[in-house]
Amino acid sequence: VIVPKSLVKEEDDDIDVGDGKTKVTVLFGTQTGTAEGFAKALAEEIKARYEKAVVKVVDLDDYAMDDDQYEEKLKKETLAFFMVATYGDGEPTDNAARFYKWFTEGKDERGTWLQHLTYGVFGLGNRQYEHFNKIGKIVDDDLSEQGAKRLVPVGLGDDDQSIEDDFSAWKESLWPELDQLLRNEDDINTVSTPYTAAISEYRVVIHDPTVTTSNDNHFNVANGGTVFDIHHPCRVNVAVRRELHKPQSDRSCIHLEFDVSGTGITYETGDHVGVYAENCDETVEEAGKLLGQNLDLLFSLHTDNEDGTSLGGSLLPPFPGPCTVRTALACYADLLNPPRKAALVALAAHASEPSEAERLKFLSSPQGKDEYSKWVVGSHRSLLEVMADFPSAKPPLGVFFASIAPRLQPRYYSISSSPRLAPQRVHVTCALVHGPTPTGRIHKGICSTWMKNAIPSDESRDCSKAPIFIRPSNFKLPADHSIPIIMVGPGTGLAPFRGFLQERLALKEDGVQLGPALLFFGCRNRQMDFIYEDELNNFVEQGSLSELIVAFSREGSEKEYVQHKMMDKAAYLWSLISQGGYLYVCGDAKGMARDVHRTLHTIVQQQENADSTKAEATVKKLQMDGRYLRDVW
Ligand code: 2AM
Repeated sequence: VIVPKSLVKEEDDDIDVGDGKTKVTVLFGTQTGTAEGFAKALAEEIKARYEKAVVKVVDLDDYAMDDDQYEEKLKKETLAFFMVATYGDGEPTDNAARFYKWFTEGKDERGTWLQHLTYGVFGLGNRQYEHFNKIGKIVDDDLSEQGAKRLVPVGLGDDDQSIEDDFSAWKESLWPELDQLLRNEDDINTVSTPYTAAISEYRVVIHDPTVTTSNDNHFNVANGGTVFDIHHPCRVNVAVRRELHKPQSDRSCIHLEFDVSGTGITYETGDHVGVYAENCDETVEEAGKLLGQNLDLLFSLHTDNEDGTSLGGSLLPPFPGPCTVRTALACYADLLNPPRKAALVALAAHASEPSEAERLKFLSSPQGKDEYSKWVVGSHRSLLEVMADFPSAKPPLGVFFASIAPRLQPRYYSISSSPRLAPQRVHVTCALVHGPTPTGRIHKGICSTWMKNAIPSDESRDCSKAPIFIRPSNFKLPADHSIPIIMVGPGTGLAPFRGFLQERLALKEDGVQLGPALLFFGCRNRQMDFIYEDELNNFVEQGSLSELIVAFSREGSEKEYVQHKMMDKAAYLWSLISQGGYLYVCGDAKGMARDVHRTLHTIVQQQENADSTKAEATVKKLQMDGRYLRDVW
């Protein structure tokens, strides 16, 4: 086990709540750990405020093994909070997907069976996306519809601004209500002393490098029957790496192939691959300097005291050790995102210069909201940049990894190959993230930079390796291959369609009858970023692709985008969909997918002679039927 899953799994199903105690359950649906952190923080604060509360924090996946158990368990709850993030194209997080499906789909059958339950929902989302907090809103509505009593209005956290402030505001609305339910006469905390969360900290053990052998290889290598997932990635070799942009381009897009032979890893066309990249040396060196730490120091982190008692609090399970500070900073620390307010509080506590401590405290305070928004979030100041501005703040390692640097998250890519063609290889098509931020720093995307610099095994025996795992998706070709398909994928949105087309090519070679397939691809300029051009032409020649329609956005005097090309072909496109065809969209969610969605709406209106409401219903129906699928980010 490598990236340890939350500690909260543990013990009891039925906590013995005993005399006069009230059980409170905090459930979370998390992708990057924010909802999990909030769930733990909420639990800590409830415990601190109310003597009477016995609080449990649970991962929604660990809560129940199957649907029946969800039902059984929820029947026993009387007070529960749901901290749920909305992810991707308005989807639940992976660990909430099973619960969400069961809870929302079966609600009519179950009626108002939750009348014994009082609940609150806090959603985590981002206003830049179309389906802002969709999951939080739906869970909130559906709990109420199933008879549960809503304690406070649903909280809508917006990660585009300061989600911690949204969370604080939601909690403020919660306490007066919880006072009614949980307050003992002698609970003074609720009235007089304002609660401040303690800064959590791991216990650090320093190891002697001559005694303990350093084990910097932290990820499992293949071992037969193991199922690899986000918590158990498999370390694999990079087999191939090549630039897809033409020499004239000033940007970069990498084609990378992971070698999964002998690992037991399998995948399907349309799945995603999660990749754990490392911070580059320059970033690690900088972090080491700012922390005043020797990068070769060997250490380990622990969540218990020396006497074996738990440190408790909202600590995540530590990463495996002992390892060097260098490895810890490279593999486990998110150093380039703007720090959260809680991180500034912890930095302030370790700033020896009083003026620095004051400024950090101000930035993290409710009064400093605008300044935090502007100076940290608005200017994309990375954690390292912020630390560089407060040189007297030198937090110890136990604080830094517990409360300041979030865990570095895997990055997801739509796999750009088909296992029919490449069973031993997982292909990735990755645009390099590289550009100036408002402070003048050049932001280098962690994973794309790693991929750009990766050394493939076809060039060197000492090739790059990365821990990866497959995340299954619903983005699949129709089971009946004679059904027409329309694919829309500008830029790296092309990735899964390259897999689709490889798959169709293999099917065709097996004698399978294929329906028509249209691909709308978009790029800036034929001479620069028309990626996989030869392969796409070859798919057309071989009959895997019926028509390739390319929008070049920066060739003419006017922008031409995939949706303009779709309008040009509206009648044909709609005739294919009307025959039962599937529409697939992949790529950027905030701009492209939203505009393509609007275009689809317009096409339906025109072709069906429908008003806007009717067109919307038609598009919705396509979505519900699984014939309009999106893989967007
Ligand atoms: P642009 O960069 O010239 O604006 C792949 O990134 C292609 O998608 C580029 O040609 C890019 O054009 C284009 N693109 C940018 N915004 C888009 C949008 N809202 N809809 C469709 N295509 C878009």
